[in-house]
Amino acid sequence: MTPHASPHPTAGRHPHSERHDDDGLAELLELDAEILGPLLEEVLDWVAPHVRGAPRTVADIGAGTGPGSRLLGRRFPSAQIVAIDRSASRLERLRATAGAPGLSDRIRTVQADLDTAWPEIGAVDLAWAASSLHELAAPDRLLRELHARMRPGGLLVVVEMDALPRFVPEDIGIGRPGLERRCHEVLARAHWNAFPEWGPRLEEAGFRLAGRRRFGVEARPAPPGTGRWAHHSFRRALPVLADRLAADDLLALEHLLTEDAPGGLLHREDLVLRAGRIVWAAHRA
Ligand SMILES: C[S@@+](CC[C@H](N)C(=O)[O-])C[C@H]1O[C@@H](n2cnc3c(N)ncnc32)[C@H](O)[C@@H]1O
Repeated sequence: MTPHASPHPTAGRHPHSERHDDDGLAELLELDAEILGPLLEEVLDWVAPHVRGAPRTVADIGAGTGPGSRLLGRRFPSAQIVAIDRSASRLERLRATAGAPGLSDRIRTVQADLDTAWPEIGAVDLAWAASSLHELAAPDRLLRELHARMRPGGLLVVVEMDALPRFVPEDIGIGRPGLERRCHEVLARAHWNAFPEWGPRLEEAGFRLAGRRRFGVEARPAPPGTGRWAHHSFRRALPVLADRLAADDLLALEHLLTEDAPGGLLHREDLVLRAGRIVWAAHRA
């Protein structure tokens, strides 16, 4: 239940309006980036030695509100970052929060539906796809097109959430223990955060796998902001959970989501944070 857990295309459309979805997801993307910033820096520490030379053009595939674009821009100070997404409002937010001149003027946004075609952005040295490849209808086609447009030796990095992040202890003191686990089981059945093992798919598209690694964080007490992140995540998942959770679990979840309740997610002091990423790095052969 993070930004990355937006309903998978096969799970059907979210019932809210597109604008509402965008606002909710944008906020989640930013909380995720704020709280998991150090983890993503660790990912980049691991990726950097695989990058050959100073990249000139970096593509952020499914950039969302741009946490990856900002990180990449800071890490590779001579690169132009091309942030690609189909959502105009997320790209608008990305431009508004792109940072100081020197960073913001190196980030270019391109609105494009990657299910249609790879946009004409010139040769790419480094491509970064964080929690986005699994949202595409035809990722294998996109990977082949991207391979054709990367410079030899260029690097593709694919990042996925290894599991939905966990925020609450097993026993929250309301209802039966194990509420979050049961919520995750429901969401898994609805294909939230479903993605394949990307390694063989990258190789089929012509890339040579350079490495695969899991990165994780387990923080108790949870870092500041986790309550808001948890609140937004559960709230975003509620339309899916509402129809499928047992009645007592739904009551407990509603209590967690009550903004002024002392036991609500916004006020609890027993929150934990367990989150992780799986990362694949592959060279254009
Ligand atoms: C879960 S968000 C991840 C955003 C960002 N990479 C991050 O790590 O915060 C996935 C993004 O992929 C974008 N996306 C999904 N399908 C797309 C498509 N067919 N073409 C372009 N962007 C797409 C969505 O609009 C969304 O912003």
